[in-house]
Amino acid sequence: KSLRKAIIAGNWKMNKTRPEAKELLEAIKPLVANAEGKIEVIACVPFTNLETAINTTAGSNVKVGAENVHFEKSGAFTGEISADMLTELGVEYVVIGHSERRQYFGETDETVNKRTLAALEAGLKPIVCVGELKWERQCNITEEVIARQIKLDLWDVTAEQVKNVVIAYEPVWAIGTGLTATPDQAQEVCAFIRAQLAKKYDQATADAVTIQYGGSMNAGNAAELLAQPDIDGGLIGGASLKAADFNTIVQAAV
Ligand code: G3P
Repeated sequence: KSLRKAIIAGNWKMNKTRPEAKELLEAIKPLVANAEGKIEVIACVPFTNLETAINTTAGSNVKVGAENVHFEKSGAFTGEISADMLTELGVEYVVIGHSERRQYFGETDETVNKRTLAALEAGLKPIVCVGELKWERQCNITEEVIARQIKLDLWDVTAEQVKNVVIAYEPVWAIGTGLTATPDQAQEVCAFIRAQLAKKYDQATADAVTIQYGGSMNAGNAAELLAQPDIDGGLIGGASLKAADFNTIVQAAV
């Protein structure tokens, strides 16, 4: 675990106007300043907030991420945003393949893979989300689902590149439901993900990849989740919209 940098990232989803974004980031900045050099703190915000977020966090230890990116470089793709558009703004991270994208917007492992490759090529660090549905866990195929996602989502990603990839394990049944995976359940799958990475690459490479847990992580349960050996951080939805709660999670990782 000491080989890896802990990363606490907020995923704001479709929340906050620009003034609201500025206000939240201004509140977060001083709270998490002590995390500088110890852990990475990121706010993944809607496209319309990116420039505001970058200006507001300038000179602080809060980094900015986008919530999606298209895989084509440019052209007739109405409504899409390219990786170059993001890097030009100063965006460092991008969430890819969130279950909400998969569920509501037709994202597949193939498009997740294409987006991941495009992001890496442009110098963005992808936060690739994987996770099983409730019924998949009930049917006892969690590992099968995760193995498939890791294999397909990281297809053609080299060992050198994967060191810049963050994997977020987000069991779909735990997202926004208040139902958190137990520390044991989350650890089990995060360890399984690392084993898949070791199989695909090698152990040293797998040991260098940051794996986050996401799904109803909050101020109350973060510490015990983050204490698990293969959980290197969190991808936080609802609790990232409140500065005090987000900071409590950050402090649990420092
Ligand atoms: O990406 C974060 C996420 O999906 C978890 O959301 O609201 O359950 O923390 P939430």
